[in-house]
Amino acid sequence: MANRGGFSSKFGFIMAAAGSAVGLGNIWGFPYEVGQGGGAAFVVIYLLFCFILCFPVMVTEIAIGRKTQKNPVGAFNSLGYKNWNIVGRLGIFSGVLILSFYNVIAGWAFGYIFEMVSGNFGIAEKFGEYITQVFKVGAYGIIFMTVTAYVVSKGISGGIERAAKLLMPTLIGMMLILVIYSLTLPHSMDGLKFYLIPDFSKLSGSVIYNAMGQAFFSLSLGMGALITYGSYVGKSDNIISSAAFITLADVGIALLAGLMIFPLIGYMSAGTMEGAGRGPGLIFVTLPQIFGTIGGGLGIASGTIFFVLLCFAALTSTVSLLEVPVAYVVDEMKIRRARAVWLVAALIFVIGIPSLIGNGYSDFFSTNFITYKEGGQDTDFLSFVAALANDSILPLGGCLISFFAAHVWKKHNLDEELSIGAPGYKGSFVQKYLNFAIGYFAPIVLTSVFIFTVLFKFFGIQIL
Ligand code: TRP
Repeated sequence: MANRGGFSSKFGFIMAAAGSAVGLGNIWGFPYEVGQGGGAAFVVIYLLFCFILCFPVMVTEIAIGRKTQKNPVGAFNSLGYKNWNIVGRLGIFSGVLILSFYNVIAGWAFGYIFEMVSGNFGIAEKFGEYITQVFKVGAYGIIFMTVTAYVVSKGISGGIERAAKLLMPTLIGMMLILVIYSLTLPHSMDGLKFYLIPDFSKLSGSVIYNAMGQAFFSLSLGMGALITYGSYVGKSDNIISSAAFITLADVGIALLAGLMIFPLIGYMSAGTMEGAGRGPGLIFVTLPQIFGTIGGGLGIASGTIFFVLLCFAALTSTVSLLEVPVAYVVDEMKIRRARAVWLVAALIFVIGIPSLIGNGYSDFFSTNFITYKEGGQDTDFLSFVAALANDSILPLGGCLISFFAAHVWKKHNLDEELSIGAPGYKGSFVQKYLNFAIGYFAPIVLTSVFIFTVLFKFFGIQIL
């Protein structure tokens, strides 16, 4: 047990876990979901979900991890509930799936750094073609996976914690520079209005569960990533306050990403906000166009900073995604970390190949890969895996983890673990709220999100 390693301090853990949470989900996903969900109203719902629902689930995952000092499968075993380790297995499975396509997108972002440095803003119009150049973007993906594996191979305090302590503050610094800059552009205020003044008439059932899914994914919940990180946390640390910091950091950075992007769209659209709802292309198509409009050295500098920042954020997330299956292999199969890391990383890269080539290069894996019942809509491999892992398995996992903690492992055991390092916890309002949230609120909401999403995404049945 002694050689499993661990975080060197509470601050180190918070940085690493915040690094896991902050990723493509915040900087790429959040702004486009806001754009499609109609702006500020989406933001309000998202914030509510983060604090009242996701925060309790986060606390629970960390507590299970610290109590057992194990990976998600070993954790259920060591609490004495072997049958429940299926939840851990499901988590590891979804982590592998998520990393397989997440790394592809990170590879695209990595390649964009070079396009921006060389002032090639025209890449915006050629994005569709760029992602079909599978040998080029595949090589970027290999580099990204290699760096990820390198960090994980260095272990917890020497690799994951060290990288996060360096990358996270740099990320925040670079974002602040871009936010301030974008707020000085003409029409930036129109962007802010769209982003910050809610119009609740834009809310619909699907906007609400998209906000829920976004919050859950963004906080890295539902697959045991935080059980794993929690297993490296010191016994004297306060889990409640750590989780609060992590949630605030993640939400704060998503909000900053919006503050950076919507003023830019205001500028680009001369205040009409046209293009805000364009979806996944927002970062790879609209933003480079905007940097091109700015032009010159300033355009190159802001474009480069932006994609470097995106890669930093993605890296601390890919590291956490890789750590979960690696911890499993190290704990349960007794394979040395250094070897386990490279084996698992290579395997995940291979699993990601259909996601890499399914964007126009391979006909089979591209948009005609699957036709859902949903009005016969065609879907590519990457979107299919994302719908399966992010939108379906994560809420299911979160629901099972909460239900398990409250009703199988039992609340008093959870409370016992949480009160270590948090003397005022017992009898506090937080304790009462967590008991309610974990026991009833989270399982019910997450089960409904799971059912709605599966029916809607895979069968085209819309209930709300
Ligand atoms: N939260 C990260 C993001 O927003 C992605 C991520 C990393 C993740 N680890 C995870 C999502 C574990 C779910 C589970 O980009």
